[in-house]
Amino acid sequence: MIAEHTPLMIEVAEITIHNSVYTTLFFDFAIDFRPGQFVMLWLPGVDEKPYSLSYYSPTRFGITIEAKGRFSRRAVALAPGDLVGIRGPFGNGFDIVSSPHTAVVAGGCGMAPLAPLVTKLHPDLCFIHGARTKEFILFQDRFARTRHITTDDGSLGHKGVVTDLLAAEIQHRTVQNQHQFDMVYACGPEMMMHAVFTLCESHRIPCQVSLERYMRCGFGVCGACVCGDRVVCTDGPVFDSAQLRNMADFNRTALLKSGRAVPLSDYVTWRCQ
Ligand code: FES
Repeated sequence: MIAEHTPLMIEVAEITIHNSVYTTLFFDFAIDFRPGQFVMLWLPGVDEKPYSLSYYSPTRFGITIEAKGRFSRRAVALAPGDLVGIRGPFGNGFDIVSSPHTAVVAGGCGMAPLAPLVTKLHPDLCFIHGARTKEFILFQDRFARTRHITTDDGSLGHKGVVTDLLAAEIQHRTVQNQHQFDMVYACGPEMMMHAVFTLCESHRIPCQVSLERYMRCGFGVCGACVCGDRVVCTDGPVFDSAQLRNMADFNRTALLKSGRAVPLSDYVTWRCQ
């Protein structure tokens, strides 16, 4: 059991370096978890950041880190045996729909929170993963048989974006008079998730997306992660279609660490520093 407020110091049990972009830290520690939830990772003297669980078993969990800023570069430089602080898990997680007619759409490291979800869904799901280039396709071997890959530059799979494939699959089901998707799950850049949401709305398909905002407390007290009238760390990070329809800041604005609201593009630039 890990307290909400106080990080528990846990040893890094194992590290997997997937490629030059992604690294997973594993912890041999039992926590209650549902796919889509996240933990706060504290590096003493550096900072504390939220990370979704990308691996989960009753005795071990893993978080996958994209090395792109000061904090994440320090995190991927850790070694087995190093101590870090963990709080959580936090958030609501995904509602699991057991139908074979589900789609999972991952963009870049948005694959991380979706990976434990995929293992809970029907094996006949439609699973689409896109990224800028093949280097940014996470877990290339983990779901190799079930995934449709897209890359912006065509270096792996279909050249284009994930919504190309999702739109084609929705269209195919419509034209063939087949059962339409009962649920579409998405995680990745917010612009991508908004495109998935818009596509789903136009076909009356329900979706759930996992939003990302700057987080400080993780349990609904500080207000750092507010998006519209929602608190992402406790109301989310997973939001469904009905909630997204009324979320004015979805794909528009986010709060910096200072609390200042900025266009989402400025927030993304700041977050990567
Ligand atoms: S991180 Fe503090 S309210 Fe969400």
